[in-house]
Amino acid sequence: MKIFVNSGNPEQAADIFLPLYTDTAYSRIAEVYPALSAFGLERALTDFRAESGKTATLYNAEGGRLFLIGLGKPKSAGFSGVYRAARSAAVQLGKQLQPAASLLLSHLAGSAEAEAGLTDAFVNGLVSGTYQLGSWKENAGSEPHPLDGEESSLTLISAQSPEHFEDIASAARRGHLIGLAQKQVMHLVNMPSNLQTPPFLADVAREWGENHGQKVTVFSGDEIEANQLFALAAVNRGSEYPAQFIVMEYEPENAPESAPTVGLVGKGITFDTGGLSIKTSAGMYFMKCDMGGAAVVLGFMEAAASLQLPVKLVAVVPVTDNLIDARSFKPSDIIGSYSGKTIEIMDTDAEGRLILADGLSWITEKYELDYLFDFATLTGATVRAIGYAAAGMFTPDDALAAACSEAGDLAGERVWRFPLWDEYADDLHSDVADVRNLSGKPVAGGISAAKFLEVFTREHPRWAHFDIAGVAFGESEFGKHKNGTGWGVRLLTELTAKLTKPETGTN
Ligand code: BES
Ligand code: MN
Ligand code: ZN
Repeated sequence: MKIFVNSGNPEQAADIFLPLYTDTAYSRIAEVYPALSAFGLERALTDFRAESGKTATLYNAEGGRLFLIGLGKPKSAGFSGVYRAARSAAVQLGKQLQPAASLLLSHLAGSAEAEAGLTDAFVNGLVSGTYQLGSWKENAGSEPHPLDGEESSLTLISAQSPEHFEDIASAARRGHLIGLAQKQVMHLVNMPSNLQTPPFLADVAREWGENHGQKVTVFSGDEIEANQLFALAAVNRGSEYPAQFIVMEYEPENAPESAPTVGLVGKGITFDTGGLSIKTSAGMYFMKCDMGGAAVVLGFMEAAASLQLPVKLVAVVPVTDNLIDARSFKPSDIIGSYSGKTIEIMDTDAEGRLILADGLSWITEKYELDYLFDFATLTGATVRAIGYAAAGMFTPDDALAAACSEAGDLAGERVWRFPLWDEYADDLHSDVADVRNLSGKPVAGGISAAKFLEVFTREHPRWAHFDIAGVAFGESEFGKHKNGTGWGVRLLTELTAKLTKPETGTN
């Protein structure tokens, strides 16, 4: 999508998007965009309540179209309200749209800065709303969303003085690029595991990384054990495919001295049957989403590079499926790990923490990281605790927890903190190995999983684990059934913007 910023009145030929809060007055719109009176807007606004997710279409005498897009109450709208309304409008209006549209936001913005913020949110929502499920239907791609692709255009009609146009255009570019990365994340999560094998996911990482000149290294097959990644190798024993251990590095072109180095680890289980501790079929059906952590990490690497974010990133993504075979690892097996610690397997369905253990101890040994984040569809227990409204956050650092919460609220991708008290670690005691992979108690499963991961972080003081089992895959306007959400790309964009290089050095 090409993006332009102009002053004056919208072009006659293009569709016009007019987002409105519940309390936006006609007089305000008429003052900023007088040409809209031709659409009978004053009368229409007595009917249209501008509730979030609602749209209405008005026509002028020449057949031009004006789409009213409800944002809800201004207070509750914020970034995420605007984002969601735009996304839902893009899906609802869908095929009837033209490939050229104008977007009007100046009537809602008291300043150029506010307008840039609204632009970012709206464009982000619009672009992610051009996503289509059905990539594997016979006629896939035959009717892409009109606003998808290079030929489409969006013109922002701004009443700000032209000196601000560059800021507004760059806010739009930001929303656009983040939206594209989210669509890629959704696509990966939606792709089933017979198509998205571990080697396939490694190829995706290579391709995305190489597009942006990032360094991509992948260990696979024999290189996994040769590199002492024994926990990943154990989970991989039941698989038809070689495990992959993806490492990607990103540095902005003119990295400022103050740029912190952030490590990202993502759980890449392409399918989780539970292994020999097999899942029920109802629980197994959704498990193509078990590489959701990997997808958000890869998607954020993409977003960071295209936006040239001022942070240095190292991403590690261990990838395998968790299947059943004569060679599969078994409950009671004692396996090794990169850290040197041995692990007693209580349950082969607690496999994500095993591959993350190797990812975390490998990345903390090889790199001096100022921050360390991992993303994983790790436990049903966290979903039972807080449902689908937030990811579970686990970190020893109070200031980092606050920064993550703020970023999550801003992004509309909320996180909620759980404790990491030592009481929970006792349950991971094994008599025969250094640690066991399951607490064995029917309580606090999300926390004991996080306590297990903590063992492998080399006590990194600024580590945060995000359990995204409830948010990576869910109901949406894109289809009738659950699908990938793209959750986390926006959160990481907001979060990394808040991070500074800590004075106390690294871990
Ligand atoms: N991949 C699952 C967790 C999951 C659950 C992801 C729901 C997405 C939606 C994970 O590997 C798993 O199986 N967790 C078990 C842990 C248990 C065996 C300790 C769970 O949550 O039941
Ligand atoms: Mn599992
Ligand atoms: Zn899993």
